[in-house]
Amino acid sequence: MSHATGRSPVTDHFELASVTRVSLNVYLDALVARALAACSFPADPVRIVRTGRPEWGDLQCNAAFLLAKRLNRRPAEIAAELAAKLGESRVFEKVEVAGAGFINLTLSARWLSNWAQAQLASPELGVVQRAPARVMLDYGGPNVAKPLHVGHLRSLVIGESLRRILQAVGEQTLTDAHLGDWGLQMGMLIAEIRREYPQLSCFSSDPAAAATPLDECALGFGMDILQKLYPRAAAACKEDAARMKEARDLTAALQAHEPAFIALWRALRAMSLKSQQCDFAALDTHFDLLLGESDVQCEIAPMLDDLRRRGLCVESDGALVVDVAEIGDRQPVPPLLLAKSDGAALYATTDLATILTRVREHAPDRVIYVVDQRQSLHFEQVFRAAVLAGYCERRQLIHAGFGTVNGVDGKPFKTRQGGVARLSDLLGDAIDKARERLSELSDDGHGRIPAPELERLARSIGIAAVKFADLSSYRMSGYVFDPERMVSFEGRTGPYVQYACVRIRSMTRRAEALGLKAGTVRVGASTERNLALECARFADVVASAADSLAPNELAEYAFQLAQTFNRFYLDCPVLAAQDHVEQCSRLALSSLTERVLGKCLYLLGIEVPDRM
Ligand code: ARG
Repeated sequence: MSHATGRSPVTDHFELASVTRVSLNVYLDALVARALAACSFPADPVRIVRTGRPEWGDLQCNAAFLLAKRLNRRPAEIAAELAAKLGESRVFEKVEVAGAGFINLTLSARWLSNWAQAQLASPELGVVQRAPARVMLDYGGPNVAKPLHVGHLRSLVIGESLRRILQAVGEQTLTDAHLGDWGLQMGMLIAEIRREYPQLSCFSSDPAAAATPLDECALGFGMDILQKLYPRAAAACKEDAARMKEARDLTAALQAHEPAFIALWRALRAMSLKSQQCDFAALDTHFDLLLGESDVQCEIAPMLDDLRRRGLCVESDGALVVDVAEIGDRQPVPPLLLAKSDGAALYATTDLATILTRVREHAPDRVIYVVDQRQSLHFEQVFRAAVLAGYCERRQLIHAGFGTVNGVDGKPFKTRQGGVARLSDLLGDAIDKARERLSELSDDGHGRIPAPELERLARSIGIAAVKFADLSSYRMSGYVFDPERMVSFEGRTGPYVQYACVRIRSMTRRAEALGLKAGTVRVGASTERNLALECARFADVVASAADSLAPNELAEYAFQLAQTFNRFYLDCPVLAAQDHVEQCSRLALSSLTERVLGKCLYLLGIEVPDRM
């Protein structure tokens, strides 16, 4: 729901200010509610929906069917009464009862034109601003020394889009990458590095030498090597129990702040972060905070003491656990493990301590975790523990999970070698495909694009393709990673929507060069009214995407809007319109579309290139 404030915006005399106070749906719902009251019918939460066919008008209201049961009257009768009342409003040009009790509504052209005009004048394009809540977004979550993979890609793409969508409705966002830098993988790595690079100062027997800060130069290896060390270390630990024990001991020593290991850890973390920041930049993601699991290390001991003192966590076989089961759990929710017998902190421990510090330092109204759905049990356990501990309320903690990215074979996406696909390879594949498409187009006589521009364009289109494919499927379901299909310029793809936007921009530039200026919108032709109506939906779509944390609603809308524009453009020439007034009206409608479409793409984290 959007949030209307102040006095009722629904008047017969349309006020231009309405568009910035309520969305179209809220406006129309209020109109129906008023008509219901005038007929002395009970107030019902009625929804007005778009009709699928032009002969049914623009919108349809099915209130009569819902009321028929309650009033024990025939729907057609109720519809007739309601339609008569609605017909008194100047908002509608035509109100007709159809079938057994549907009410078909056609908006007045004047009203629709005014709405479009007001939307064009609104800096937010009509998106209703809410009372600003403080929302923290936890996404990305890359791990030290591990390359970003396809799961991190989804988290980054969805998280960034949610950041932009929530900001668009007026919320205050604070984003944190929550780096994985304090877990068992650190011990595994230290063990592996000790084997391969025993000469490093941190392994010296002289404590002062061992604690000397290290940098990339002193380490003698870079990110390319580091990324190979981790999989090797992990495989060795899996095979060999002694190696695993060594890794655990080293993790515990690091977490106990052994100076030599801290020196090494700092260097590894810095190196990883540098490379991860390149990935963040490539995806145009923005982080306010780059904190990690390690940043709450000092909180852990006092937190555990406090939980123990309050009897919230108990010892069980040498481990510390919180019982988080609830009566009515359909599936058993196991106790949350906060410390193993060796005292090392676990993923859950750092997550719980992170909630504590976030609440204390930022007092967020909500914290949204954009993390793989397969971690849902983990979050359920951690959230319950946080509530039990009194850190916050349950409704403040939200796990916005997502499904798995699959390969064309329907199985979780792997590289050709069968390994976990790296983010840089995935983007590389899409960019390669985009380059191929662009070269084909330029060979087809679309004009040669100079090499540096082609490269920039291929990047922009390739990344748009990946983001759009990801965001256009419902977050919780997985999707198929198929670069070939993603970069297509036809169909539900990022490049298709980008192209529509580029095309409108180039047309409006041409018009301006001819001295034309966007004038007053006056919708006439049916493709014109469809376009105005489609633009008017924007505020409702953004509000709904924000409420449901569902960028896919925006992606679908962007695609629909691009299509609606293309139909309009085919039907209603702008530059070759009949007269000056019509030219300027169509130009205004085109500018509105361009701004709405551009904003949609921005909200999806997709940039619009200068040309395509
Ligand atoms: N580092 C984790 C992973 O790679 C993701 C972190 C998600 N955020 C969190 N607060 N647990 O799976």
